[in-house]
Amino acid sequence: MSQHATVPQLSALIRHRRTIKPAQMDPGLEVPRELLDELFENANWAPTHGFTEPWRFKVFSGDARKTLAENYQRLYRETTPEGEFRQDKYEKFGINPLLAPVVVAICMARGDNPKIPELEEIEAVACAVQNMHLTAAAAGLGAFWSSPPVLGSEGFKAFLGLGAGDRCLGLFYLGWLKGGEEWPTSRRRPVGDKVEWR
Ligand SMILES: Cc1cc2nc3c(=O)[nH]c(=O)nc-3n(C[C@H](O)[C@H](O)[C@H](O)COP(=O)(O)O)c2cc1C
Repeated sequence: MSQHATVPQLSALIRHRRTIKPAQMDPGLEVPRELLDELFENANWAPTHGFTEPWRFKVFSGDARKTLAENYQRLYRETTPEGEFRQDKYEKFGINPLLAPVVVAICMARGDNPKIPELEEIEAVACAVQNMHLTAAAAGLGAFWSSPPVLGSEGFKAFLGLGAGDRCLGLFYLGWLKGGEEWPTSRRRPVGDKVEWR
């Protein structure tokens, strides 16, 4: 059998991938461990300059999501200047981790290879996340990459146990659509406006 997916199959999957927010997920519908393992395995096959493989994932499910939510709220309160604090955001940070059955902290482990700039480590992690997101879409599993500034704070890094040069690049919520919700549509401006032929 060919090792290659056909281009139409791949194109269909890429265009089918959507952002599904926690409010659209059913927290009571568990994600099978085998599917999560498949997501992480595919993440692990992302391109990586110098084989630094900088993607790290911290998985929160069950009661661990409560600890995540508590720390998320606490750190938002601690790191947000008074005039910028928003009660609606604070409440969302307390609720969102409980609306999804699985929440994955997307992390970058900074390697010690001086030839690899930090930006390339971040880019490699983004490729890994896209692999996960496409795998989720193929399974009909919703996913959402969320990246409010508080996740980049030193406090959040400490909560995750990250090293000095590491970064948290966001939370990746995973869950099945709840009853009454439909797989969303999205939009893009024409690619022709973004490609210059020389
Ligand atoms: C690096 C990255 C960070 C993102 N952070 C957020 C975020 O903080 N809040 C949010 O609503 N969406 C976030 N998104 C998701 C976008 O909103 C979403 O991709 C966009 O609405 C297009 O929808 P689609 O993914 O279904 O095509 C992020 C996406 C990426 C790639």
